[in-house]
Amino acid sequence: MTGTMQWKFNETLRSKDGLASLDRFTWDEANRARAFHRTFDCYKETPMASLHRLAKHWGLGGVYVKDESHRFGLNAFKVLGGAYAIGRYLAERLGMNIEDLSFERLRSNEIREKLGEITFVTATDGNHGRGVAWAASQLSQRSVVYMPHGSSPTRLEAIRAAGAEAEIMQWNYDECVRHAARMAEEHGWVVVQDTAWDGYDAIPEWIMQGYSTLAIEAIEQLRALGVPKPTHVLLQAGVGSFAGAVTALFASVYGDERPAIIIVEPNKADCIYRSARAGSLQVVTGAMNTIMAGLACGEPNPAALQLLQDYGSLYISCPDSVAAKGMRMLGNPLGDDPMVISGESGAVTAGLLDHLMADPQLSDAKDRIGLTAASHVLLVSTEGDTDPSRYRDVVWDGMFPSFAKA
Ligand SMILES: Cc1ncc(COP(=O)(O)O)c(C=O)c1O
Repeated sequence: MTGTMQWKFNETLRSKDGLASLDRFTWDEANRARAFHRTFDCYKETPMASLHRLAKHWGLGGVYVKDESHRFGLNAFKVLGGAYAIGRYLAERLGMNIEDLSFERLRSNEIREKLGEITFVTATDGNHGRGVAWAASQLSQRSVVYMPHGSSPTRLEAIRAAGAEAEIMQWNYDECVRHAARMAEEHGWVVVQDTAWDGYDAIPEWIMQGYSTLAIEAIEQLRALGVPKPTHVLLQAGVGSFAGAVTALFASVYGDERPAIIIVEPNKADCIYRSARAGSLQVVTGAMNTIMAGLACGEPNPAALQLLQDYGSLYISCPDSVAAKGMRMLGNPLGDDPMVISGESGAVTAGLLDHLMADPQLSDAKDRIGLTAASHVLLVSTEGDTDPSRYRDVVWDGMFPSFAKA
C-alpha cells in the first residue's frame, strides 16, 4: 500500500551550539514582513479551515488547513516571498528601511522616477514566477520568467497575464535557475530566486522571511481556535525554502517545545529526504516528472536544508497518488467540514496524513511521531487549482488513484 513511500527520522542529537541560527526567523522579523504585506490593498489573512470531522475520523484531536488559495487573488502563497524580497531590495536601493516603505509608496511616480526601469528575472514552476510577475507589474517594473520543460501552458499563461515575459525552456527547474542567473549577469537584471547559492543569499533569505507571514497568521488563528500550539506540522518541500522558513519560525517561537515537523516531497524530486538520509546535501537530476510541479526541484536551498536538518523530525518521499488523494479528500469534505480546493503541491500533506493514520505500513512512523487523540495537526494548502484542467483530471476523473486497500 505504500508504493514507493520512504521515510527517515531525524536521529541526530546536535548540541545547542551547532544548530542553525534562528536570528532571521524570529517573531519580530516575521512581523516585519507581515507589516509590509499589510500595506497591500489586497492583503487579507487567508482562512484556516478546521476539519473536525476528518480529525474525528482519523482519531486525532484536530486537523487545521491554512488555505493559501486565497492569497492576493493569486491562488498560491508564493507571492508573499517574491513581493517581500522585491520590497526589501528596493528599500535597500533607495537607502530606506522597509518599515518606512508601504507598497503604495513604492508604486508612486516619485519612487518610480528615482529607481528607473528595473528588470526582475526568475525561474519557476509557476507559482513563484506568478508572484514575482505580479509584484513587478504592480510596481510598473519589468519581469522575465523562465519555466522548466513540461510546465503547464495554463500556468505559463497565468504568469504572462500577471505581466511577465515568460517562456517554457528545454531544461529542468535547476537548469532554468542557472539560466536566469546568466541572463541577469549579461543584461544587468535582478535575480529574484527562491533558492540560494554561493554568493547569492540575501534575496532568498528575504523570500523566506516573506513566507513567515503565513506562519504567524497560522499561529494566531490556531490560538483563536483554542489551540495554543499545534503538536505536528506537515510541510511540503521543493527547494525547502517554504518549509525551512515555517520550521524556523516555529522553532524560534516554541523552542524545545516546538511541534514535530514532518517534511514531504515527491519521490521524483526528494532532495531533502535524500540529504537527511545521507547527512549531507544531495541533488536529484533529470526530468523530475511529478504532478507536484511546485515541488519538482532537485537542488535544496542550502540555508533551508540546514534549518530542516536541525529542526525537522521526519522526512518523507512519496508517490504522486498521495497528492491526488489529498486533493480528493480536501475537495470532498466529511459532514460540515469546510471544503478546501487544493492543487497537487498544496494537497500532498493531507494525503500523507491519511497514509500516516490509515496505512498499516506507516503505523510505526505514526507511533514514533506521536500522532494520537491529543494531537493537533497543522497543514498548509499552499496552492489552489493552479492548473484547473489537471485538478479536474484528478478530482473528477480519478487520475492517479490511491493504492488498493490492503
Ligand atoms: C504550491 C507550492 N507549494 C510548495 C512549494 C515549495 O516551496 P519551496 O520550493 O520553497 O520548497 C512550492 C514551490 O514553488 C509551490 O509552488
